[in-house]
Amino acid sequence: MNRIEGRVKVTGLATYAAEYPAEGLTHAYAVQSRIAKGRVKRVDGGPALELPGVLAVLSCEDPPPLAEGVEGELALFQSREVAYRGQIVAAVVADSYENARAAAAAVRVEYDPGDHDVTLRADHPGLYKPEVVNPNFPADTGHGDVEAGLAEAATTVDVTYTTPVLHNNPMEPHACVALWEKDGRLLVYDSIQGTTSDRDTLAKTLGLPPDGVRVVARHVGGGFGSKGSTRPQAVLAALAARAVGRPVKIALTRQQMFDVTGYRTPTIQRLRLGADAGGRLTALEHVAYEQSSTLVEFAEQTALPARVMYATPALRTAHRLVRLDVATPSWMRAPGECPGMYALESALDELACAAGIDPVELRVLNEPDTEPGSGLPFSSRHLVACLREGARRFDWDARDPRPGIRRMGEWLVGTGVAASTYPAYRSPSKAVATLRDDGDFLVQVAAADIGTGARTVLTRIAADTLGVAPQRVHLELGDSALPDAPVAGGSMGTASWGTAVVRACEELLRDGKEGRADTTEEVRNAAKLARQAFGAQFAEVRVSAVTGEVRVPRLLGVFACGHIVDAKLARSQFLGGMTMGLGMALMEETLTDAEFGGFLHRDLAQYHVPACADATGVEAHWLEEHDDELNPMGSKGIGEIGIVGTAAAIGNAVHHATGHRIRDLPLTPAKILMARF
Ligand code: MOS
Repeated sequence: MNRIEGRVKVTGLATYAAEYPAEGLTHAYAVQSRIAKGRVKRVDGGPALELPGVLAVLSCEDPPPLAEGVEGELALFQSREVAYRGQIVAAVVADSYENARAAAAAVRVEYDPGDHDVTLRADHPGLYKPEVVNPNFPADTGHGDVEAGLAEAATTVDVTYTTPVLHNNPMEPHACVALWEKDGRLLVYDSIQGTTSDRDTLAKTLGLPPDGVRVVARHVGGGFGSKGSTRPQAVLAALAARAVGRPVKIALTRQQMFDVTGYRTPTIQRLRLGADAGGRLTALEHVAYEQSSTLVEFAEQTALPARVMYATPALRTAHRLVRLDVATPSWMRAPGECPGMYALESALDELACAAGIDPVELRVLNEPDTEPGSGLPFSSRHLVACLREGARRFDWDARDPRPGIRRMGEWLVGTGVAASTYPAYRSPSKAVATLRDDGDFLVQVAAADIGTGARTVLTRIAADTLGVAPQRVHLELGDSALPDAPVAGGSMGTASWGTAVVRACEELLRDGKEGRADTTEEVRNAAKLARQAFGAQFAEVRVSAVTGEVRVPRLLGVFACGHIVDAKLARSQFLGGMTMGLGMALMEETLTDAEFGGFLHRDLAQYHVPACADATGVEAHWLEEHDDELNPMGSKGIGEIGIVGTAAAIGNAVHHATGHRIRDLPLTPAKILMARF
């Protein structure tokens, strides 16, 4: 299907959070900490208050009341402690954006600075084992004897891979318009991946009952995790609106987003692998070192893929975390699986090279019968079929495995492969389907369409269930006043909302007039199985022997993600994910400022993402996979698997092209040249 909202989007008629009008609208602008650690001694809003149009200055000098127990980035102005450079320490409300921004620069903040530590190291004395990693997995797992497995191996690999801080950069910056209604209820237009959870978080933060808040997000210009949980702009807008008694708009700048809307933790990952003479794993160990803030613990699940991917008699996975004077890391594009699979799939390629086994065959050789970490059967697993189909399409069998021997003029040529996996999660959701007086159908669910095509795919799912043309289904989403729905995250939107939409439509068909669904029981009663989507990615690279530039003329993904509900929307998801993986491999990186704290990369001129000219040959294919153990659509999520494994496939191809293994992302020209000379 074409996107239902396609026309309003390309004609500029789709309304985003910052575009909602309000009577008497005012504007807020955040003042951010200039130090990375210490205390706010004094905030003097006096000079700002004298400037034109300024209505209020908010800060810890007069803390606006928040509910007990609010923590992290949302606990605005509640403490004088500074946790990181860039933290919001004050805000100005004025009659225009320009006046608010000018006055924010006039707010005087005095600090008692302390000594900060913002550098992640694998030997940091503050490293500890978190209780669990996200969303709720044991930090460490294992079976068998890793040391014995390594000792008896014919081939071993002991390598450390590092990935940098990464930032989501959705097209639409985080923004919010907040209005207090006469009855004391809060109406919020927010840029958010889930209106139900945003409503609940805002109500809890502000000490309101859940029905005291309504969140509207009809169109969201991307999120990728950065809008997966409530961000400070929404709390700030609500507090500011209460302070001035008028509606308040906040539109974060791109630079502010780097500080206060989350990022992917940098990782240091040590992989130890052993294989017998036939290429079968004798041991696999994956240890991930990551950071969180001093405010709250965010423990990314980096080593999880090693619990899913390969059969081995000895397996150990571990996560170690250190709390630094940095902003709290957060959700970003396949959190955990993405950086974890980069390291695992790169190390596996090293093992294939060391053992002299084709990397596709090495993966096939180590295909497990059940999920290695849990012993659970898979609901379906077609990794081998993806690898075989990808190899066929890519003409992999014609590949000469010797590294560093192909050259076309200045360009060194290489190819690489990596596997992909992402969990097929599902969460409880509600939905309501109604027969309208005109004979058409109204379907309501508080889902969020963050650019994935949720509105369209849910319309199609409803139409298929009702047995009518999609034109007769009218779908409403993006409003917490609609039936409760989980967040557009974890690649579980379609599976979660779609189940509720199907059940509501089935109920309508029985009832004749209306159907109401709540899938809590259905989701809870699902059989205990390992549910994962799989894929295989193949990359061809050209590496300039002159400049070190890497180009990717071909990136081919083959995925097995259950039933693909809509081919056009799905293809866009895969291509988008793979292109993000290309960015991760070659360009994306945020450097931390060790001297002053905070980040050095703060905008799209410094933080590079792929443009169309960088992604000319991206191809996505899929196998039709039948799986009855998922949901009524038989679908697995596809939002995130496209990015998983991509960077490894490209890195492996760079090794094949150059003969050099660069174990630190991104693969910039400087690193390539350093390796070559
Ligand atoms: Mo995605 S990081 O689950 O929004």
